[in-house]
Amino acid sequence: MGSVPNPNHCVSRIDNLIEKFAEAFPEVSHPIRVCRAPGRINLLGEHLDYNGLPVLPTTIQHDICIAFTPRDDHVIRLKNADPRFSETAFTNTEDIPPSETGAWENYCKAAIQALNRRFPSSAYRGMNLYVDGNIPTAAGLSSSSAFVVACALAYLAVSELELDKDISRIELATLLAEGEHYVGTRGGGMDQAIILLGAQNCACKIDFFPLRTERVPLFEDHVFVAAHSLVKADKTGSALQRYNAGPATCRLLTALIEHAARQAFDDEIELERLGDLWQGPLFLTHEEAEALVRSVLSEKPFSMDELSRFLNLSPQAIREKWLGALEMPPEGLPLHRRARHVLTEFHRVERGRDFLLAKDAAAFGELMSASHRSCASDYEVSCPELDELTEIARQAGALGSRMTGAGFGGYTVSLVPQAALLQFLQRVYEEYYRPRGMPPDEAHNVLWAAAPSSGAGYTPSPFS
Ligand code: GLA
Repeated sequence: MGSVPNPNHCVSRIDNLIEKFAEAFPEVSHPIRVCRAPGRINLLGEHLDYNGLPVLPTTIQHDICIAFTPRDDHVIRLKNADPRFSETAFTNTEDIPPSETGAWENYCKAAIQALNRRFPSSAYRGMNLYVDGNIPTAAGLSSSSAFVVACALAYLAVSELELDKDISRIELATLLAEGEHYVGTRGGGMDQAIILLGAQNCACKIDFFPLRTERVPLFEDHVFVAAHSLVKADKTGSALQRYNAGPATCRLLTALIEHAARQAFDDEIELERLGDLWQGPLFLTHEEAEALVRSVLSEKPFSMDELSRFLNLSPQAIREKWLGALEMPPEGLPLHRRARHVLTEFHRVERGRDFLLAKDAAAFGELMSASHRSCASDYEVSCPELDELTEIARQAGALGSRMTGAGFGGYTVSLVPQAALLQFLQRVYEEYYRPRGMPPDEAHNVLWAAAPSSGAGYTPSPFS
């Protein structure tokens, strides 16, 4: 189940894609090019990126490939090998109006709009795109950001701009992280960064504002196994509001802590995000940051009245400034638990990177399970199926197991000794998938060993 992508297999996939492109766009005379962007799985550091705190993801073997050609007009035409995504087209202008929420072309529009802002022109190129992807969708594996990145690569090429020359991968990842807000989700920059900067058999520790990445080799005798909870978590659909609650709550937390930092240190201090606590001019240690957070947040949830008194602002102003559509639970917002997740998860990422380098799989696994508990009880982004599946994985021999990505469903990731892989897969199948009616020969679609592939690029050398 799950193996390193075989370049020969990939060559035939690319040939096949080019053939399908030629059938879909018979009138085209320009040479057909292909670009590719992988999905990702996050090992540690959930809901940290939009706080400006580090994460530790890897790429996976599943990817999105796009065959493309320039057009002589300003129209972007999109076709997809997957019939769930119907053919569509739009005009490329300086300001591209979004289609209705959830429409797949919005991700392409997001990439193009972001690049148009970076490289203004009097006439924006059109292109034909034929998309073929195998990253499970609505599953927390970043199929949407992979699509955004692949569209950006195609568009750079038809605009005669060169990746790594006219724009660096770091700059492109930063630009697309912001650009993807176009679709309505307020994600951080983890997905675009790992997709563009990931490498075979490596995790990346990614820091933000400014974006920096450090490649960390994975364990040689242990594998990360991905398993789908079978609960769909569509970030632009039903999970959108729930996902956006995270960034909104953290913006509010930042305001409360800024207030406390001004009283404790200097009334000029400005915090844009929680991660600023560890950066200049404050440069707090973990202990100092925890003490500051404790000084503002009691374990009791915050009611709107308390927030209003604390910040000296009306409930309406608080809504407009930070909360937006976020619903205030009747018992108040459990801000203390949300902050505890951010603080402890940050610490886990730092230690996780060190344990990876030290080849200490047992210690890394413990961090993964602790991260899952924190996501479930402090950040409240898990669901019963994710909890059940991670528990089964631990019982089946994983050194650690956790949900991965935004949460509310989608995939889990577990760390498994290579020598125990087959038994592990068998047991997870028996205990989670068989009772849900999944035939054994379909299990490899939802339960597989991750094989981190190279970052996004152009073929024919996708695995260089
Ligand atoms: C989604 C977002 C990321 C990140 C994760 C949670 O995948 O796109 O930016 O916030 O959720 O860690």
